[in-house]
Amino acid sequence: MSLVVFGAVALASCSNDGGVATERADRIQSVAEDATTDPTAEETDPPASQPAETDPPETVPPTSGPRPTLPPGTVPPQTDPDDTDPEDTEPEETDPEDTEPEVVESPDGVGDPLFPELGNPGIDVEHYDIRVRYDPADDEITGAVTLTLVPTEAREQFTLDSSGPEVSSVTVDGDEAEFEQEDVELRITPATPLEPDKAVDVVVAYTATPDGGTSIASLPSGWFHTDEGSYVLNEPDGARTWLPSNDHPSDKATYTFRITVPTGLTAVANGALISTTPGPEGDEWVWEESVPMPTYLIQLLTGDYEVVTGEGPDGLPLVSVVLREDREAMQPFLDSIDDQIDFFDDFFGPYPLAQYGIAMTDSTGGLAMETMSRSLFSREDFLRDDTFIEELLLSHELAHMWFGDAVSPAEWQDIWLNESFATYGEWMWMEHIDLVPLEAQADDALQTKLLFGESATATPGVGELFGYNVYDGGAVVLHALRLTIGDEAFFSLLSRWVADNLGESRFTEDFVQLASEVAGTDLTDFFDEWLFAEVVPEQFPEPAAG
Ligand code: TRP
Ligand code: ZN
Repeated sequence: MSLVVFGAVALASCSNDGGVATERADRIQSVAEDATTDPTAEETDPPASQPAETDPPETVPPTSGPRPTLPPGTVPPQTDPDDTDPEDTEPEETDPEDTEPEVVESPDGVGDPLFPELGNPGIDVEHYDIRVRYDPADDEITGAVTLTLVPTEAREQFTLDSSGPEVSSVTVDGDEAEFEQEDVELRITPATPLEPDKAVDVVVAYTATPDGGTSIASLPSGWFHTDEGSYVLNEPDGARTWLPSNDHPSDKATYTFRITVPTGLTAVANGALISTTPGPEGDEWVWEESVPMPTYLIQLLTGDYEVVTGEGPDGLPLVSVVLREDREAMQPFLDSIDDQIDFFDDFFGPYPLAQYGIAMTDSTGGLAMETMSRSLFSREDFLRDDTFIEELLLSHELAHMWFGDAVSPAEWQDIWLNESFATYGEWMWMEHIDLVPLEAQADDALQTKLLFGESATATPGVGELFGYNVYDGGAVVLHALRLTIGDEAFFSLLSRWVADNLGESRFTEDFVQLASEVAGTDLTDFFDEWLFAEVVPEQFPEPAAG
């Protein structure tokens, strides 16, 4: 795990020894303490020294991030993919040579170099209608998902990603279809072959058992049972463990969730709450996400939650959920949302989604995830009175709504487009509230990247997807870019990136091109030196004139 807790964010780092997720936060905090910082910042001591020069990064590799402890039921990974000691790691994961996008031909995947079996050729899902019944008292998820999909070619057979569900029937446009359950694929043969561009409704009825565990990326993944409910964590490939789907970020769709839970419990999913209807089996809660999203951003919670609505900047609907017993304790965080959105929209452009909110789950601490339109956190991390961690997590996940949620990665190796940007947003916020000057963060991160960087920010291996070079090490790349092209070009690049690509999935190459276009100069050399290189320059560029 790593990641999880701060994981998420913090994650940054991530190694996985599962400790408490505070490592990265501690490191950043020590930067704060060392930096000559605003004396009003509570957690900051008087400057003892200049950060980068006199206070070299710890000699422990920053795999560190605030790391979360594993959720219940999580089996610690056997190896630590983020470990920077090459002896301990799988060579394929740490040797950048091996992580160069190779074209992997997999008949049942969409050719993601890191996850060849994810995604399904020949289909484009437009909408998921997910109907799930769940009673935390027993251990079964009973569901049916209707996928409205558009074939991109004529096919007699197609697949969905499915690695846990027990499927009982499949229909295509109402007609029974033949199906076969393989290890990670559900292979479907419709009665009538699919015709290109002719949308069909595929209904898959299934049951599944909550079996949250650890993904190959060393993060908690799947459906987790809590004392009184449940939550899901799907990044990068957890959705397929409980939902037959096109489980790859290149395919975004809108969603309707109809979740039935025993009367008295609350079911929560992304987007807007449409209705709550009592029925013989409990209450059905219907939620709708209207902005296209990938499966890994699904939020699905059950428990004793209260839904708290409000209004953010420019009338933005706010929909948050907190456990009933935490209602009062969480109020300050609910109240903080406005200011953070207000701060970011000056730099990144208008808030891009239809609503925002925070969800405070009863997961183990160390979890934070940018689930679409409502970030997911662990209540534990917010009941400790640790302002530093709270601000870091809240700002990081909110920044993801622009970077990762509005615009998503086309392949998993493009993950820096999410994490480096969210980390940069987090740095900006921490400076804004006088906790750590951005320069101090950037200088420290550059030193750390030089000492421990092993893979280029743009080409992480599976075990490095949520590692240092993607989080802080990638924020270093963005800071270098900002210095090179100047604030005006840099922030108009970031807001154009979001505005032009809202609802889409993009490659690193797309960003590189837009950067050159917005800056009005060819930035190929810059990106070769900073983004695609395993070893980056020792100093930041001189700030652009003007
Ligand atoms: N995207 C999360 C973040 O904000 C990190 C993350 C990836 C994660 N996979 C996860 C967190 C699984 C919890 C569980 O940085
Ligand atoms: Zn993140």
